[in-house]
Amino acid sequence: MPLDIVIGTQWGDEGKGRIVDLLSAQADIVARYNGGDNAGHTVTVGKQTFKLHLIPSGIVHPDTLGVLGNGLVINPATLLSEMEMLKKMGINVGPERVRLSFAAHMITPAHRALDLAQEKARGKSQIGTTGRGIGPAYTDKAARRGLRLEDMLNPQTFYAKMVAHVEGVNVQLQALYQAEQLDAEAIAREYSEYARQLAPYICDVGEELYEALNSNKRVLAEGAQGTLLDLDLGTYPFVTSSYPTAAGALVGLGLGIFPVGRVIGVTKAFQTRVGAGPFPTEVFGETAERLRGSGANPWDEFGTTTGRPRRVGWLDGVLLRYAVRVNGITELDITKLDILTGLNPLHICVGYRANGKEYATLPMGPTDLAPFEPIYEELAGWDKDIQTARTRNDFPKEALQFIRRIEEVSGVPVRLVSIGAERDQIAEIK
Ligand code: IMP
Repeated sequence: MPLDIVIGTQWGDEGKGRIVDLLSAQADIVARYNGGDNAGHTVTVGKQTFKLHLIPSGIVHPDTLGVLGNGLVINPATLLSEMEMLKKMGINVGPERVRLSFAAHMITPAHRALDLAQEKARGKSQIGTTGRGIGPAYTDKAARRGLRLEDMLNPQTFYAKMVAHVEGVNVQLQALYQAEQLDAEAIAREYSEYARQLAPYICDVGEELYEALNSNKRVLAEGAQGTLLDLDLGTYPFVTSSYPTAAGALVGLGLGIFPVGRVIGVTKAFQTRVGAGPFPTEVFGETAERLRGSGANPWDEFGTTTGRPRRVGWLDGVLLRYAVRVNGITELDITKLDILTGLNPLHICVGYRANGKEYATLPMGPTDLAPFEPIYEELAGWDKDIQTARTRNDFPKEALQFIRRIEEVSGVPVRLVSIGAERDQIAEIK
């Protein structure tokens, strides 16, 4: 069985959780491969809304195994409280259902303190991180001084490593940021208890996935964040510190160049961004309020992890084409098309303009988007409620035209369109 990968094509928050939820009904294993608890996936099942930051949203299906790969940085406190929440909702999260890679790195309170101190020190150049310690944890990983989950398996050395780690960060906190010191012994004690609880879950995830794929099991790789937040390929430096793009799935799960099947790109019908950085198609005022929502609903454009209002804008076809190229996307799923109902005319950015020149693709990657002005194409909107649509024929012709333009602009077919937060509010278009 090939490996299918679900990728965000934008700046995260594309609604991947619900696509993964749908696809994982047929999957044996759903595996997260990057990021940490900076991610937030909202899944609605009937009256229950699940907000998950680490455990793959596929866990809500009773027969699906949830895996966290080596590409993650895991905050054990978040993981354990998420497990507790799922347990209370009647979902089994025992070691027979959740697996953690021995090579995943740990996020500690010291990483979180550093993240906050570093953001503060950036002043006007803030990235707008989620404050979850993501950057500092990946920095330690790259500097080869990080703490891996496998360290939890040896209680004696783990305690000492934790103390040394926190004391090391304390030196930085004091010398560079004049920030408060952390209690290394207390943190080491807290983490030793987490180690005791998590030890049964730690294993060689890559081996399990390899065996599963070889025995014809269905494995779905679930990306967190999105293409434009990729450390190498995103809008650097306004990015996260991991690899949300498709190749990151292989590295982050310990798989080789395995036969990959579908690379499913999830894109919102418009564009959103949290945190700082250029955003060519950003809109303000009434249109922005319509796209964002008031915050009263869980699907409104307010961060799942931070609660921050998201910046919103029209769909950026130039960036979508870029995402298709760097991920090898084979198909697109569009989310939140229903939000566009009643807006007229609609806009899609089909090119950029800068210094009197027009560009259909990015001349130098997406690093500095500031000089570019979007070239918009106007499309007719629709007023008919599309939330009950389930097949292509249920959509007004203007909505189908909008979808067709996305296919033409991106170069890949659209397969699913979601038109509401409920599990069944999804239409097959192909
Ligand atoms: P960090 O990942 O917390 O270091 O944040 C770096 C950048 O990525 C910031 O602009 C965040 O707002 C953004 N970011 C991180 N995780 C997510 C996510 O899950 N959705 C959207 N943006 C995110």
